Amino acid sequence: MDQGDQNWWRHGVFYQIYPRSFQDTNADGVGDLAGIIERLPYLRELGIDAIWLSPIFPSPMADFGYDISDYTDIDPLFGTMEDFDALIAAVHDSGLKLILDLVPNHTSDQHPWFIESRSSRDNRKRGWYIWRDGKPEGGPPNNWLSEFGGSGWEHDETTGQYYYHAFLTQQPDLNWRNPQVREAIYDVMRFWLRKGVDGFRVDVIWHLIKDAKFRDNPPNPHYVEGRPPHEAILTQYSTDQPEVHEVIAEMRRVIDGFDSCVLIGEIYLPLHRLVAYYGNDLAGAQMPFNFALLSTLWSAHSIEKIVADYERTLPAGAWPNWVLGNHDRPRVASRVGPEQARVAAMLLLTLRGTPTLYYGDEIGMRQAMISPDQVRDPFEKNVPGIGVGRDGCRTPMQWSARPHAGFSMAKPWLPLAHDFARENVINLDAVRDSILNFYKALIAIRKKLPQLVTGAYQPVAAQGDILLYRREGEGGAVVIALNLGAEPASIASSSIGFGREILLSTMLDRQGEQVQGTLDLRGNEGVILGTPAHAG
Ligand code: GLC
Repeated sequence: MDQGDQNWWRHGVFYQIYPRSFQDTNADGVGDLAGIIERLPYLRELGIDAIWLSPIFPSPMADFGYDISDYTDIDPLFGTMEDFDALIAAVHDSGLKLILDLVPNHTSDQHPWFIESRSSRDNRKRGWYIWRDGKPEGGPPNNWLSEFGGSGWEHDETTGQYYYHAFLTQQPDLNWRNPQVREAIYDVMRFWLRKGVDGFRVDVIWHLIKDAKFRDNPPNPHYVEGRPPHEAILTQYSTDQPEVHEVIAEMRRVIDGFDSCVLIGEIYLPLHRLVAYYGNDLAGAQMPFNFALLSTLWSAHSIEKIVADYERTLPAGAWPNWVLGNHDRPRVASRVGPEQARVAAMLLLTLRGTPTLYYGDEIGMRQAMISPDQVRDPFEKNVPGIGVGRDGCRTPMQWSARPHAGFSMAKPWLPLAHDFARENVINLDAVRDSILNFYKALIAIRKKLPQLVTGAYQPVAAQGDILLYRREGEGGAVVIALNLGAEPASIASSSIGFGREILLSTMLDRQGEQVQGTLDLRGNEGVILGTPAHAG
C-alpha cells in the first residue's frame, strides 16, 4: 500500500488486535504494547495494512477497557505513553496504519467526570451524564434495559436520582446532548490524532443520542425465550435517534482536520438504518461497520442476497466494508466450521469493500471452551448459561507449541484453546497448504489484482451451494467461485465466461490449472479464476 494514498482505508486490509490477548512481554499474563511491537514483522508478512487496537486506556477493566477512566493515557497493564509513542512509530515505519478504539458513549464510573457528576445535583459536571428522577410511584425513570442484564438505570444514594447505563452499572452513559461533553471528546480525538493515529473505530456509535423525552421502549413482539433478556424490548427510543447524525458529522469534521484519517463506526442495525451512518452527502462515518456476515445463515443463497442488498442499498459513492469476526462474537471457524473457514476468508477478501480480520482467524482459531470458573466476561457473569459469553473468542493468540503458546511466560488471563500445541503460527507456517499460508496467498493476490480492490461486484446467480461472482475493473475481470457445501459441486464453465485459469484455490493446490468444460469444486473449496495474464 502506498502510504501517501488518501484512499488507504479503501484499499487496505484491516486487522483487529485485542491487546490483552496478542503478546505479553512482561510476564503478567496480559498482552501489552511492547508485545504488539514485537509481532509487527508477523503482521507485515501476513500482508495487512492497518491495525485497529481495542482500548488500551486506563480502566478498572470491568468491561476490559471499554470502561475508560482516562481517555488520554495508557493503562499500565499495557505499558506507558512512551511505549505507545514507540508503537506508533514502529507501526508507521512498517508501512502500516494505526486505528484506536474511541469509546464516547460511556465512561467508567471511576472517571473523574463521573465522580464529580455524581457528587451533587448542582455539580458543574452533573449534566455530563444522564440523571433522572425515578417514577413518582417508585422505580426507575422508564423501562430501558442494560445490554448486560437488568435495568438500564442505577439508583444513586448520594443524590437520590438514577443514572443511565446502556451496559454495566460501572459504565455510565455520557450525555451527548451536552455541548461540553462533545467538545471534551473531540479534544480526546485531537490528542490522539496529533500523536499520529490514523483514525478511530467508534464504540456503539448508534447509542450516543437518546430520546429527549425518555419515552418507554416498546416490547419486542419477536422476542424469543432464551435469548438475552434485553432483547425483550426494542431500543426505539434509546438508540439510533436522528440527532446522532449531527454528532457523527462533527466527529468527522474533527477527523478531516487531519490528513487522510478514517472514522469507523460500530453499528448493529438493519441495513436500511445502517447506511444512514454514512451521513448526508457522506459527511458521516467513512465506514459504518457492516456486520451482516456475522449473523447470516451460511449458505450461498443467503450470502448472495446479503451482498446484493448491501450493494443496492449503499448510497452513491459510499465505500463498502465486511467483517467476519470481532471480540464480541463467536469465532468464524466455529460459526461456519473449520472446513468453511477458508471459504469465508476468500469471501471476505474478494467482496467489494474493506475487509477487517480478527486476530487469530488467520490461523483458524476456534471458539475456546470456557468453564464456569474461568469466566471473565461481565456479560456472561450477569446473564449466565445462555451462551452470550465473549471469553471464548478472546483467548490468547497461539504463536507456538511452547508453554502458554508463546503468548506469555506466565499463566494467561484467559485459558488457551486446547488445540494450541498443533494450531499455532510456527506449525502452520511450516505446512505449505495451511490456513495461515492460504491467508497470506489470499492477501497477496488481492494486492496484485486491483480489480479485487476497486473492481465492480457483479453477481452470477448462485447455483446450489456455489456462490459465484465477478469483480471487474482495472486489470479486467476475475471470477470467484465458492462452494459453501461439504459435497463436491460443478458448474458449466460457460457460466464463468472469460477467465479459465485457476489463480488460487482455498486448498492452495490448483494454481495454473486450466478449466475446461466444467469447473469442478471439491467440498468446501473456493477458487479465484482469471486469465493467464493475471497469474503472471
Ligand atoms: C461495544 C464493544 C463491547 C463492549 C460494549 C460496551 O459493543 O465492542 O466489547 O462491551 O461496546 O462498551
